[in-house]
Amino acid sequence: MNKLLTTVFALAVACVTVASHAQEIKGDAKAGQKKIDMCIGCHGIVGYQASFPEVYKVPKISGQGAKYIVAALNAYKKGERKHPTMRGIADSLSDQDMADVAAYYSVHGVVEGAALPATATVQPSPEVDALLKKAACVSCHGANFAKPIDPSYPKIAGQNADYLYVALKAYKTENNPNVGRSNGVMGAIAKQFSNAELKALAKYVSSLEGDLKTVPESKFR
Ligand code: HEC
Ligand code: HEC
Repeated sequence: MNKLLTTVFALAVACVTVASHAQEIKGDAKAGQKKIDMCIGCHGIVGYQASFPEVYKVPKISGQGAKYIVAALNAYKKGERKHPTMRGIADSLSDQDMADVAAYYSVHGVVEGAALPATATVQPSPEVDALLKKAACVSCHGANFAKPIDPSYPKIAGQNADYLYVALKAYKTENNPNVGRSNGVMGAIAKQFSNAELKALAKYVSSLEGDLKTVPESKFR
C-alpha cells in the first residue's frame, strides 16, 4: 500500500471513531416527517438548482444513509463544510432534529426489497477506470458506489453529476471563507486529480444505479 493510502485509511479510522461517538441519539422517521418543511423547498423539488458557489442541482438526499446525513449536517454546523445556506439550516437543528430528519430521508422513496446490483451497472471507460483505481474509490464507497464500507460514508451512485463535481472540487479548496470541505480523507484524494479528472469521475459515478432520489414533496402533506 502506498503512503497516501496508508494516511487516508488512518484518517478514515479516526473519522469512524469520532462519528460513532456522536451517534447515540436515536432518530425517529415519523418525528422527522414533521421537521422537513424547511428542507423540501430545495431537496423536494426535482432539478432544483443552487447558485452558490456555481449553478448546480442540489444533492439528492432521499435514500441516503442516516448516519451520513447526520455527519454531513454536523459538518455544515461546525463549519467543516463551508456552505452559508446549509450552515444556517444545520445551525437551527438540534442533535435530535438531525437524527429524526436523517431517519426520515434514509427510508424516503426507498422501495422495500428492491436490491441494487452488487457491482457497478455501467463499465467505466479505460481512462475513468484508471482514475478510480488510482484512489481506490471502491474500497470505501463500495463496488457499486451505493453501499459504502461504513454507514457514515456517503452513497454516491446516481447522485447529480454537477453536485458531485462541486463537492469534489470543494475538498481541494483552501483558504476560502465560504467554500471548502475540511474532510482529510477526501481532501487527500481530491488533490491528486485535476478538475477535468474530477468532472469525469463525477459524471461516471452519477451514471450508476443507486438508492438516491429527489422525491417531489408538497407543502400540503
Ligand atoms: C435553500 C436550499 C436548501 C435548503 C432549504 C436545504 N438544503 Fe440541504 N443542501 C442544499 C445545497 C445547495 C447543498 C449542497 C451544499 C454543498 O455544496 O456542500 C445541500 C446539502 C445537504 C446535505 C449534504 C448532502 C450530501 O450528499 O453530502 C444534506 C444531508 C442536506 N443538505 C440536508 C438538508 C436538510 C435535512 C434540510 C432541512 C432541514 C436542508 N438540507 C435544507 C440546499 C438546501
Ligand atoms: C478512504 C475512504 C475513501 C476513499 C478511498 C474515497 N472516498 Fe469519497 N468519501 C469518503 C468519505 C468518508 C466521505 C465523506 C466526507 C465528508 O464528510 O465530507 C466521502 C465523500 C465523497 C464525495 C462527496 C459526496 C457527497 O454527497 O457530498 C464524493 C463525490 C466522493 N467521496 C467521491 C470519491 C471518489 C470519486 C473517490 C475515488 C477517486 C473516493 N471518493 C474515494 C471516503 C472515501
